[in-house]
Amino acid sequence: MQRYLDFNATCPPLESALDAQAQAARQACGNPSSLHWAGRNARRVLDDARDALAGFLGVESGSVVFTSGGTESNNLAISGFCANHKQGHIITTAIEHPAVLQPVERLEQAGWQVTRVRPDKRGAVCADDVAAAMREDTRLVAVMAANNETGVVQPVAEIGALCREKGIAFMVDAVQMLGKTKISMCDWQADFMSLSAHKIGGPRGVGALIVRRGMNLQEIAPGGGQERKRRSGTENVPGIAGFAAALGGIDFNAYATMRDAFESALLEAVPAATVFGRDAQRTPNTSIFCIPGLDGETMLMQLDLAGFAVASGSACSSGKREPSHVLLAMGATQEQARSSIRVSFGPGNTQEDAIALVGELVRIRKRLRGMAGAA
Ligand SMILES: Cc1ncc(COP(=O)(O)O)c(C=O)c1O
Repeated sequence: MQRYLDFNATCPPLESALDAQAQAARQACGNPSSLHWAGRNARRVLDDARDALAGFLGVESGSVVFTSGGTESNNLAISGFCANHKQGHIITTAIEHPAVLQPVERLEQAGWQVTRVRPDKRGAVCADDVAAAMREDTRLVAVMAANNETGVVQPVAEIGALCREKGIAFMVDAVQMLGKTKISMCDWQADFMSLSAHKIGGPRGVGALIVRRGMNLQEIAPGGGQERKRRSGTENVPGIAGFAAALGGIDFNAYATMRDAFESALLEAVPAATVFGRDAQRTPNTSIFCIPGLDGETMLMQLDLAGFAVASGSACSSGKREPSHVLLAMGATQEQARSSIRVSFGPGNTQEDAIALVGELVRIRKRLRGMAGAA
């Protein structure tokens, strides 16, 4: 039996999104920049999707810039904003997604100065630490709303208020928050907010950057000047229609009970296990844990053989396995970070999946321990 428990990686597409995508692909097949009827049909679909997303978020339609996903949105906000400003200082956190860490690192190599604020043991960044890092020449603060590995929610409203007070631009990576907890660019006083369609059952390769009125950006890939000269390239009309159709389609809060049942059962069956961020406010569907002595990647493969799709906390880059930078920043040991496994629940999951996963973990642990003992 196959069980998908990796919704933070991607949420399989909703029927409504697939239908909207197929319909737009067939019926709105013109280029939305063309002036003829076919172009106007495509433009209408695009405008409707823009209005739907803006309405959902409570922002102006003109602030929506469609992109190819969360990675591009983060890059556009960070690099596009900094390109228009005098070199200075950036504040981010040590637990951001690589789609924030990497563009910030590039700017650092080009001469910008960077402070990476560390989280506490629970995985939450403290707004006071961000305040303490602020300088005269701080131009941008970039903080995620919720962490992709731990689900820990960050104090973005507090940080946003600090930034507004000091006149510093504030970017929020809200990719893991959409569909999980209320997001409000206005309450957060954010100037830029990144979103991705595939985390909520929309298509992969589509996203948006919400840009507050008055904030200007330099395009990172100049071209035909689409999206009000903020993101060139013919818009992915079917994908964008699918994104709009997926909005509000999933309430991840429905999975909090399942997640909590999973963690209770795990800790009862394996008291030596550690659940990270359990005392912090978290997105409702996410759990990351480690079982001492067991390698995360090996567990992941064993679980895969048994039909469970989960994620390990270690990232694989250029064939080299790196322990989770998020858990390390929280003070986890290298061994804990290497043995971590992330489970993220979503549509189609049942309590039975959660309990079956614990049973499988216990069986694998017994088997691997037996093999280690026999060796
Ligand atoms: C917090 C966060 N930011 C950005 C991204 C990148 O989004 P995308 O896959 O749409 O490029 C992800 C994807 O996992 C994410 O979790």
